[in-house]
Parts: sequence; structure tokens; C-alpha cells
Amino acid sequence: MGKTIAIVNQKGGAGKTTTATNLAKTLAVNNNKVLLVDLDPLSSLATRYHIESQSLYSLADCMEGRTSLGQCIQPSGTEGFAIALGNHNLIGFEIIAMHQENRESILALQIDDLKTRYDYVLIDTPSSLGLLTMNALVAADEVLIPIKCDYTIFDGMAELLRTIDDVSYCLNAKLKIMGFLVTHVNPQLRSTAVNLKEIRTCYGESVLHTLIPDSDDLEDSFHELATELEVRS
Ligand SMILES: Nc1ncnc2c1ncn2[C@@H]1O[C@H](COP(=O)(O)OP(=O)(O)OP(=O)(O)O)[C@@H](O)[C@H]1O
Ligand SMILES: [Mg+2]
Repeated sequence: MGKTIAIVNQKGGAGKTTTATNLAKTLAVNNNKVLLVDLDPLSSLATRYHIESQSLYSLADCMEGRTSLGQCIQPSGTEGFAIALGNHNLIGFEIIAMHQENRESILALQIDDLKTRYDYVLIDTPSSLGLLTMNALVAADEVLIPIKCDYTIFDGMAELLRTIDDVSYCLNAKLKIMGFLVTHVNPQLRSTAVNLKEIRTCYGESVLHTLIPDSDDLEDSFHELATELEVRS
């Protein structure tokens, strides 16, 4: 049975999409079957990684009940790594589904139907704690929280952790925090050591050992992260 990981931080630019895409690719290269669910209406994922939409349906069609998640899945270009692309139509879902019963569990039900086909289902989320992110948290076994290593490290974190607690209490008892992933790490900045110390003081063992550098070349770091996560699970 596959493990579902939601990559969440409502702060924009924390590195969610970069983490989701690079981790999906690396896990697939390590012989895992991986599905990436692109749940961000403003995602630049497809353009950024040159993935052309090949499906008749997008995630908005799935979230609004017009089709199944299976119908939205297409190859990513890397063997073993499939993707369900989102687009701006997902914005409409948050409004349309506002009063719908079980509106937070739509994605969970869809993922349950095809979880046996994958070793990992990764969910990239928008920079908000709205209904799309709630769906990701209800569908997930674990949450991976990227934190940008700058003076904003703790911005919104109390609210995020409270939301995760609420979801695990009310809607998804299996949900747990996989770890905090520090991104954009620049060892040349004096503030970096201070920020890392603060994060580790606050979140202790939950801070992943792998640090994602501020760099254009992230391949080795995501290889290290994939190994760390596979060893932990
Ligand atoms: N480790 C890194 N080193 C250098 N640039 C990075 C790194 N991680 C992300 N970036 C760049 O920072 C920007 C924001 O990253 P990303 O899109 O992954 O964040 P996000 O959390 O998904 O943002 P949003 O909340 O807007 O969806 C992008 O332009 C990305 O290319
Ligand atoms: Mg993003």
C-alpha cells in the first residue's frame, strides 16, 4: 500500500513545488512508483518542468465530481513518475464545494481507489490553508513541511500546526508530521546558522537532517532526502 505525503506550508515560496517535483522524480529513479497530485490552482509546475497536459481532464474535474483521479493521470516524462495536473479551474472548486457534505474528503476517497498502484503519492498544495489544502491533509498519511531558511521561518507555523492537529483530531486520525525540511539554505550567510539553530531548538528531531541548499543544482540533495525518508518509513 502506497504512502501519501502532503507537502504543505501556507507561506508562499517555501519550496513546496520544488520539493514535490524533485522528490517525486528522485523516488521514481530509485525504482518507486510515484504519483504527484498538483493541487495548486496557481501552480507553475507544468510550465516550469515542461510537462504538457495530455489528459482530457484536470484535477478540477476530479474534485468537482466530473471524473475520477485515474482519468487525470498522465506520464511526467520520467519512468515510474505519473502526474495529475491542476490548473486555475481549481479555484472554482473551493467556492463550488463550500457547502458540500464531505467536501474535505473528496481527494482522500479518490486516492484510496488507486493507492495500491503506487509506492508514494505526493500532493503539492497551494499557499493557503483553504479547502484544497484541507483535502490534501485529509488524504495524507504524513505531512512534509518545507521551511525557507530566512527571517520568516516561523511565519504562519503556529496556524499550520494547529490545522494539522485539528485535521488529525477530527478528520484523519492517521495523519502525522513526517518532518520539517529546511530549504534555500545558504551556508555563506551568517543568519543561516542562527535560523537552523532556532528551527532545531523548536522542532527537535522532527527537523530532517537533509538540508536543501539555495542552488540551481538540487539533484544530490533530493537524492539524500529520498534516502532519509525511505530509511525513516
Ligand atoms: N532550494 C532552492 N534553491 C534555489 N531556488 C529555489 C529553491 N527552492 C525553490 N526555489 C525557487 O524559489 C521559488 C519558489 O519555490 P517553489 O515554487 O518551490 O515554492 P512554493 O512553496 O511551491 O511556492 P508557492 O507557495 O507560490 O506555490 C521558485 O522560483 C523556485 O524555482
Ligand atoms: Mg508551489
